Parts: sequence; structure tokens; C-alpha cells
Amino acid sequence: MERLARTNYCGQLNTSHLDKQVVLMGWVQRRRDHGGLIFVDVRDREGIVQTVFNPERHPAAHEVAHRMRSEFVVAVRGTVHRRPPGTENPSLPSGAIEVAVEEAWILSEAKPPVFAIEDESDVSEEIRLAYRYLDLRRPSMLRNLRLRHRIYQAVRGYLDRHGFIEVETPVLTRSTPEGARDYLVPSRLNPGQFYALPQSPQLFKQLLMVAGFDRYYQIVKCFRDEDLRADRQPEFTQIDIEMSFVDREGVLSMMEGLVVALFEAAGKPPLHTPFPRLTYRDAIQRFGLDAPETRFGMELCDLTDVMRGVEAKVIAEPIAKGGVVKGINAKGIASFPRAQLDSLVDYVKGFGAKGLAWFKCAADGMESPLAKFLGPMVLERLQERLKGEEGDLLLLVADQPKVAAEALGRLRVKLGHELKLIDQTALSATWVIDFPLLEYDAEEGRWQAMHHPFTAPLDEDLPLFGTDPGKVRAKAYDLVVNGQELGGGSIRIHRRDVQSQMFSALGIGPDEARAKFGFLLEALEYGTPPHGGIAFGFDRIVALLAGVTSIRDVIAFPKTQKAQDLMTKAPSSVDVKQLKELRIKLDLET
Ligand code: AMO
Ligand code: AMP
Repeated sequence: MERLARTNYCGQLNTSHLDKQVVLMGWVQRRRDHGGLIFVDVRDREGIVQTVFNPERHPAAHEVAHRMRSEFVVAVRGTVHRRPPGTENPSLPSGAIEVAVEEAWILSEAKPPVFAIEDESDVSEEIRLAYRYLDLRRPSMLRNLRLRHRIYQAVRGYLDRHGFIEVETPVLTRSTPEGARDYLVPSRLNPGQFYALPQSPQLFKQLLMVAGFDRYYQIVKCFRDEDLRADRQPEFTQIDIEMSFVDREGVLSMMEGLVVALFEAAGKPPLHTPFPRLTYRDAIQRFGLDAPETRFGMELCDLTDVMRGVEAKVIAEPIAKGGVVKGINAKGIASFPRAQLDSLVDYVKGFGAKGLAWFKCAADGMESPLAKFLGPMVLERLQERLKGEEGDLLLLVADQPKVAAEALGRLRVKLGHELKLIDQTALSATWVIDFPLLEYDAEEGRWQAMHHPFTAPLDEDLPLFGTDPGKVRAKAYDLVVNGQELGGGSIRIHRRDVQSQMFSALGIGPDEARAKFGFLLEALEYGTPPHGGIAFGFDRIVALLAGVTSIRDVIAFPKTQKAQDLMTKAPSSVDVKQLKELRIKLDLET
């Protein structure tokens, strides 16, 4: 066979190519044998084109077409013709033309595919992941990955234009305290010692600021051994960014520009800047969650004062224990049947609440199992506070502040989706700011950094460090879009004395601090500029822009909920010899 060079992509052919000789290569999407003519739809990454084999004009090619089957890889040489009137396919970009084949080759045969290569293919995710190379042939997956490609380019373009320098940081490193469990890698040359895969390049990017790089970025893999969900993978990608000589506003406005550029690259309607800023306190009070869904109302309302002194035990007891009562008004669903109400109760119990009290606003007053324990006065004030009108369902949780807020906050989002109160096409970006610097870990009986130990406190809150550490707010921020955390960061501590104060608040003594972060503490003594940064969840951004709910659909080779790769079958056991070299003995008894 003479040298055969492809001239065009299948999916790009149209009437502008009429009468041209073309050579195409691709996969057989479909073959239809009409006795005489054979039609073969050939697919490549740009789409599909119909090819026609005529037994009289080109018997040899026709014979080859006889042997073609789904997903065979083929090459054809032929001429582009207009399709006969009435046979056009307007749903295909190449639908007005077809290629009359003169010569054809089978480049490789294929077993029948495990599932049909088309978007509507009804196949389980396990099978898709086990045969990911077939799954990725489906147009929607290819589209997602190509969008991802476009977003990489937009990130690099924007950050390059703004003077950010791309730097790679090590993957074999020592663990940084990001809060999740590390993936460890044993060191053969240093028996008994381990590297950690980075949960993020946090310390390195700060050290690049000490080094004077001024603006850094990296599109980087991060590794966290945590419980997985639709928006969490054990290895995921961050857009990691750090800047010097900036304050919080400086970072936020630069990052708004980036987010706007990414939405534009994906062809989304323009986002308005500046994005609204919501304090953590307000986010929790109004929405119950630190990643608030701000596309609809039904905000939480505090009812503790209204409920103080009521007889009902389920309310009185939590209040007596320092709890609060929070409520929402689910408008117009007082007619919810009992079974559905029970499912709402179960839902909030999943978030630690002990129960959910409901009140139906009826024409003749409020209907509720608790009505008789509250009395008409309280019921009236309750209805007034929640602006309850006939037909509304009022839902209350009495519990510790955190539990009540989260349980009701989640219930609010669930109802928002189920009752179709959220415009699914709308995009709402919000900065959540002024997070607490520390949170108390009751299990371990000590304070922990809410973000990480290098996050700077608000200057005006510094005096509270010694007296009321829980009240110290941080120069930390999260970007929340449609109720999902897309990114988070902070202004960092750049003074050694403040860093020491932070470590001591965390119960990390000077020796431990030196052992764990000696290199950072030392660097802070060599002239450190004020600096701050952020990291975006790249997979989450692409998923949002692609309109898919799981980040697995925008990652070429993702892992399952059990952190397995069903295609390569990782993780796997290894040779005893490999373990010996690493001086590792397994102890699988538990
Ligand atoms: P943080 O831990 O908030 O901050 O992570 C930043 C963003 O990364 C995304 N993300 C994930 N995406 C997919 N799977 C995961 N398992 C996962 N975990 C996190 C989220 C999150 O907002 N070093 C700091 C940033 C900084 O301070 O500059 C950091 O990593 O979208
Ligand atoms: P019980 O007495 O446990 O059967 O609860 C009576 C009603 O109060 C049920 O509808 C419970 O779901 C609800 N309830 C129980 N505990 C709470 C709570 N902490 N906050 C709000 N409602 C509750």
C-alpha cells in the first residue's frame, strides 16, 4: 500500500468540500448493508461522516466494506458528494454530504464493544470505568475533556498575562498539615522513612514568595486519603496560586478576573464582579452552611427567643443545654403527606439532629404534633417570625448551634432542589470571608486550624488570641458557586512571632514546630514579604462549566468511591521482593 495520509477529519467535512478527494481514518460507528450499496458511518474525534460503497463502481472497496464491523479502525479514500435530496441528515454537521469510497482498508479489527459508543448508552459506571478507553470515545466524554483542555489554556493565558510564573513543586515531599490523611511513599534509600504525596503545595508556594517570585501558579495534582464523594477524588487537580505584597482584596479581585475568564472560555454568560462577599457568620446564620446556595430564599431564621420557656421537651431540653432553635418556611407545601414529612425528619437526622418539628399553616391555625405543648401565643409568634401563610410548612430544629444550622441548611438545599426553587441555569458566585481561625476539636480536646496553621488572623482580633481563641477571625476566604466550594485560601502569617503564637494556640510546642516546619520558620527569618493565595478545585470548576454533577466525568481516568482504578486495577498487591527492598512487613490482621 502506497503511503496514505489523512486529509481531513470526518466530522469537519461539509458542502465546502464538494468534489474533493479525501482520505479519512477513524472508527466504524455503524454499517448498513442495503444488499447493493453499503453505508458506513466513520467516526473520529471531530464527529461522524457517512461513506458509501458501490459494488459496481468499486468492487474491491465494497468487498472491504463487507468485512467492516462496529469499532473497526478503517481508512477510506474517496470523493465528497452532495447527498441525494431527501437523504440529508440535518442533525449531523456533515449531514448534507457523503463520501463515495474508491479504496478502503481495515487498519485494525475490533471485538464487539462492551457497550454502544454513543451518549445514550445505558451502562453502569463500573463498566464505563473498567473500559474507560471505550467510554472516552463517547462524544460527551470527549467534549468534557476538551472543555477541560480549553480551561487549562484559559488559566495559563490569564495568569501569564498578569505576571504569574508557573513553577513545579515536588510530588515526593514531607507531609503538610492540610487536615486530610496523607498518602505515604516508603523510601528504599532511607529505610523506615516515608515521603508524603502533597495534599497541596502550600509550604512550597509560600517559600517561593520568600524567594521573591512575587506571583506563582501551578496546575497541580494533590493527594488526599479521605472519604470520597461525587466532588472528591483521592487525587485531584488544583489551580494553585500565591501572590506577594497584596491584601485580601488584592487577591480576591485578581481571582475574580480569573474566574470570569474561565467562564468566558467555556462560553457562559458573563459573571458580574465584584462577587458578593458574605461573612462566615452571616453564611451560617442565613444559610446554615459555609458553602451557601444563594440562588434561592427560604433562609434560616433564629427562633430561640420565641421558643424559650415552652413546655415541649424536644425544644426545651436543647435550649437548656445551650442550644438554639432554627426554622425555615417551606412555602406552599403544607399538604406534604405524612410519609414525606417522615422522610424529611430522617434526612435531618442524617446530619446529627435529633428530630425535625413541623407546623402546617392552615386556615384555622397551626397543625403540628407539638401544637398543644406550645400554646397559641408561641404558635402565633412562630408563624409571624417565619412569615407563615396558609399552605406553608414551617420546619424547626432545636439543637446545638452547629448541628441545628447544618441540618436545616442541608434540608433547605434539598427542598430547594426538590421543589424546583433553584434556577438550574443560574450561576451565583459568592466569597465567604472572615472564617474563624481556629475550631475546637472536642474529641482531641484542642484547637485546630480551620484552614491551615499559616493563615493570618485579622489584625483587630490579634488580642483575642490569648483570651478567647475561638473568636479570632482569619484572613481566609472561600469561593462558593451554587453552594459548592470551588476554592479557598488566605493571607498568610509572614511574621515569625505571630506564627509562633499560632503554633502555641494549636498546642504545637517549639520543638514540634521546629521538627515539622523548621524550614518554614527559618525562612520567615530571612525577609518574608506579606503574601497570600488561593487554590481552586480545577475538576470542580470544569464539572460546573461542563454541567455535570460528578467530577469523575471530567477526569480522564478517575477512581471509584473506594479509591480504586477499575481499569488498571490499582491499588494492587506487590511482590514480596519489592517489600523486602523497602524493609516492609505486612500485618494484615486487625
Ligand atoms: P483547600 O484544602 O481548601 O485549600 O483546597 C482547595 C480546593 O481544592 C478542591 N478540593 C478537592 N477537589 C476534589 N477532590 C478533593 N478531594 C478535593 N479537596 C479539595 C476544593 C477546594 O476548595 N493549600 C490550600 C489553599 C491555600 O491556602 O492557598 C488548599 O489546598 O475545590
Ligand atoms: P418525639 O417526642 O421524639 O417523638 O418527637 C416529637 C416531634 O418533635 C417529632 O416530630 C420529632 O421529629 C420532633 N423533634 C424531636 N427532637 C427535635 C429537635 N431537637 N428539634 C426539633 N424537633 C424535634
